[in-house]
Amino acid sequence: MALPDLAAIESDARRDLAAAADAPALDDWRTRYLGRKGILTALLRGLSDLPQADRPAIGQGANQLKRALEAALTERQQERRRAETEAQAPAATSIDVTLPARPHPQGQLHPVTLTRRAMERVFREMGFDVVEGPEVEWDTYNFDRLRVPRDHPARDMWDTIWIDPESPEDPAAPLAQPAPRRLLRTHTSPMQIRYLEAHQPPIRVVVPGTCYRYEATDAAHEWMLTQIEGLVIDENISFPHLKGTLESFVHRFLGPGLETRFRCDYFPFVEPGAELSIRWGDRWLEMLGAGMVHPEIIEAAGLDPERYTGFAFGMGVERFAMLRYGIEDIRNFYQNDLRFLQQFRGVS
Ligand code: DAH
Repeated sequence: MALPDLAAIESDARRDLAAAADAPALDDWRTRYLGRKGILTALLRGLSDLPQADRPAIGQGANQLKRALEAALTERQQERRRAETEAQAPAATSIDVTLPARPHPQGQLHPVTLTRRAMERVFREMGFDVVEGPEVEWDTYNFDRLRVPRDHPARDMWDTIWIDPESPEDPAAPLAQPAPRRLLRTHTSPMQIRYLEAHQPPIRVVVPGTCYRYEATDAAHEWMLTQIEGLVIDENISFPHLKGTLESFVHRFLGPGLETRFRCDYFPFVEPGAELSIRWGDRWLEMLGAGMVHPEIIEAAGLDPERYTGFAFGMGVERFAMLRYGIEDIRNFYQNDLRFLQQFRGVS
């Protein structure tokens, strides 16, 4: 029996491979040369029919050829894929730089952003610093350290979107401190505590930011809202400072003639607590919560509550934006309807 001509097989295989132009052709090639019933497999199987003396050399040569052809196939496949990608990419030369410019539709700031910035500007003019804080917050800051302990009914004032699940109570240690849990902050008030951790009086700061509530929406309530928190702490701060500051803000921001009204309200972190309403046509609109910072919070911050007093407030930016632009339904803000949003083009 004639010895197989490996060189001839190799040159046929390489010629056919170069001619295989697409994926099915490459597949056929692989079957013909490298497949289970392919030429090389048959050759290796037929080794035992060869004269004993020729077997090692032919066997080795056939195995080498098989690996070489496998490598050639892989290279050919990659080459073909590269060519395909290049063919799909737009030619770099297709940009005609001599074409006249065309107007590109321009975005603009969201009405809540516009309002938040305008409110910040007024507070800056009044001597406040502006800082921001985290939206993912620990329940210790959002609640406990604001005098809203676990299981206290005041927690119901803020329906919460929790991030960490509640850990089951350990029956062996029922009085153990439960682990802190993360949540989406329900208000900007936790920044009062964070700011007090890092600053000494005199403190005069506002904190704008997004808050989240696990709440059904209606014309006046959204589950996502923007607040501006305020904190003032110094010696000799009293309730008239609170009233004067907030009235001044409302008059600067919405108009000097506006009628305002303070009434008692309850918030666990202030004593006394108040709400401020403004007269809008024949209605009173509640605009914000406020109060004198609770002495326990001042003391927990390492300050002497006999020496330092202060006030705090929290207001909803969307509510101010609604009055500013005459918007009836708070849900307009976050539905991303361009017919609504585009009305604020060019507005400041
Ligand atoms: N954090 C309160 C809320 O979201 C608002 C508030 C009330 C903030 C009184 C204050 C405050 O700083 O003193 O309902």
